[in-house]
Amino acid sequence: MNKEEWISVSDQYIMGTYRRYPVVFTRGKGMKICDTEGREYLDFVAGIAVCSLGHAHPRVTEAIKNQADKLIHVSNLYHIEAQIEYAKLLMQNSVLDKVFFCNSGAEANEGAIKLAKKYGNDLSNGSKNETITMDGSFHGRTMATITATGQEKFQQGFNPLLAGFKYVPFNDLRLLGKTISEKTCAVMIEPVQAEGGIRVPDRDYFQQVRRLCNEKEVLLILDEVQVGMGRTGTLFAHEQEGIIPDIVTMAKAMGNGFPLGAVLAKDSIAAAFAPGSHASTFGGNPLAMAAAKATLETLLGENLLSNCRLMGGYFIDKLNDLKKKHSAIKEVRGRGLLIGVELDCEAAGVIKKCMDRGVLVASAGTQVLRFVPPLIVTAQDIDQIVAILDDILREGA
Ligand SMILES: Cc1ncc(COP(=O)(O)O)c(C=O)c1O
Repeated sequence: MNKEEWISVSDQYIMGTYRRYPVVFTRGKGMKICDTEGREYLDFVAGIAVCSLGHAHPRVTEAIKNQADKLIHVSNLYHIEAQIEYAKLLMQNSVLDKVFFCNSGAEANEGAIKLAKKYGNDLSNGSKNETITMDGSFHGRTMATITATGQEKFQQGFNPLLAGFKYVPFNDLRLLGKTISEKTCAVMIEPVQAEGGIRVPDRDYFQQVRRLCNEKEVLLILDEVQVGMGRTGTLFAHEQEGIIPDIVTMAKAMGNGFPLGAVLAKDSIAAAFAPGSHASTFGGNPLAMAAAKATLETLLGENLLSNCRLMGGYFIDKLNDLKKKHSAIKEVRGRGLLIGVELDCEAAGVIKKCMDRGVLVASAGTQVLRFVPPLIVTAQDIDQIVAILDDILREGA
């Protein structure tokens, strides 16, 4: 089939929940991804911050193949060898104690919200169960997580939303302090707001949030679904804040493309989940765990965190140089290799022109270009995309 035929079959059978670009991808390797027409693209999207080791990383591919030969799935009714091995590796690299495995970011956040509610309700005879989240946040597409998401555009048409959520502006301690009440069980925040436009909070914000949560006996949940697994230059983004959260959620990059998610918690909080409190058929299945273990070992063993910090700094400097030349760029912001460029126009036009020139870029909101390349990105890759952006902006975005 040619591209047009693929797209027509896609439109016939797949629900129209995405406004898809007219391209059909078939294979990838490292930073490159190839379409049905044999055209190669330099990938600064990485499946939206997922394929952090690059496409078709041999260690992950081999781990998946080996595990598929042995055992793909067995229920959490039993102990699972690959799950135990990965849980130990992950938790030994984290400040938290226990993990629950699931299949996506939204499911991880559902689990975290449930855990905080259960913990709060158990402590208070059922009265401490409200969660505070941030304006501009994004936590997923299930009913609880669109309710948690502080952006109306994701909630429209889905009333009634769930009870038990309050919202405050991101990076505003005063209103957070005023909004926490006896009923609050948790405050849930992204260390850097990603979908909300790559928004980085003030330097001491999280220290102050941690202090407030301690004072008011409220749990601090960090949504590290997008920023976790090295995206900001440390394995967990909160390592850079010098705080210990109570619960952390992760997903995207955990399996370098193999779908999985996780809820991490302190022992004392994890204990609120008893057998039967929560579950997931596929969560932590052997195949996902083999992919996750190979991903984490590669991330830690191949110096990718330092490459992320180095290339993130290099990229931001180059983008700031572009900003000096082009008034269409209002701001460059980010951490590690989660980088946003706010434009004075819609991002979609620039993204389309980048694609025409063989580079994939995403957006975050309507006016922000989002760059989340694999953490193996090189200075040459960055020079290439910066030159392309320079051309596009010179022609007029
Ligand atoms: C911060 C954050 N939380 C949650 C999610 C939802 O993850 P998923 O799409 O895997 O359900 C996302 C997805 O973009 C995210 O960026």
